[in-house]
Amino acid sequence: MKIIMLGAPGAGKGTQAKKIAEKYSIPHISTGDIFRANIKNGTELGKKAKTYMDQGLLVPDELVVDLVVDRVNQEDCAGGYVLDGFPRTIPQAEALDKALAALDQKMDYAINVEVPDDNIVNRMSGRRACVDCGATYHMVYAPTEKEGICDKCGGGLILRDDDKPETVKKRLGVYHDQTQPLIDYYTGAGILREVDGTIDINDVFAEIVKILG
Ligand code: AP5
Ligand code: MG
Repeated sequence: MKIIMLGAPGAGKGTQAKKIAEKYSIPHISTGDIFRANIKNGTELGKKAKTYMDQGLLVPDELVVDLVVDRVNQEDCAGGYVLDGFPRTIPQAEALDKALAALDQKMDYAINVEVPDDNIVNRMSGRRACVDCGATYHMVYAPTEKEGICDKCGGGLILRDDDKPETVKKRLGVYHDQTQPLIDYYTGAGILREVDGTIDINDVFAEIVKILG
């Protein structure tokens, strides 16, 4: 089962991708998480990516594509995987298709999590992420058991650098320009499925499970 999560920043791609990965025992591959881990570890890739991410811009395709293609070719991806935050541009989608076609494979589902822009800015200001394991929470919609402490690993929680309202607005603009065209791309490929991302987290997941079976 090879799945792409589509949706605006803050639509809930990461939240749902983690649940899918757990239920279907497949790896969750988030390019945003990979970049944030690189930034935390001070790698060259992290330094390059940070200059774009902090401005709410996309990291250039050439820094992303090989990284993902290498990742999906690893052994643990043989039974499928869920891509979260990739592809994000038409050239990335084409590069992914080409790499898979060379292996006689193709993606099975592109799930678009639909949330209107108005809801997004509000949602992002309440998001908190664990500095140690990257788990995400929401102060109102997905709170931790103890305030400010990660349920999974006990790490501290922070507001992501790119979740400030001005940067979120910029990211939304970039999403509409560069990523939304993928909805038509995957509709054309016959694999697009839509879910309402404004309902409760568990209800969104139930909709996704209906699609995946
Ligand atoms: P990335 O990390 O992918 O960020 P994003 O796409 O902007 O998406 P988010 O992670 O912000 O949101 P999400 O949809 O995962 O929502 P979440 O589940 O957390 O990318 C960051 C940056 O890296 C990019 O801007 C770019 O610079 C770079 N990058 C990454 N990939 C790239 C690529 N392929 N090419 C180029 N550049 C790339 O949910 C959000 C909040 O809402 C949480 O607090 C959650 O608890 C809450 N929530 C979720 N669902 C619900 C619900 N149903 N109801 C109420 N609250 C909910
Ligand atoms: Mg995410």
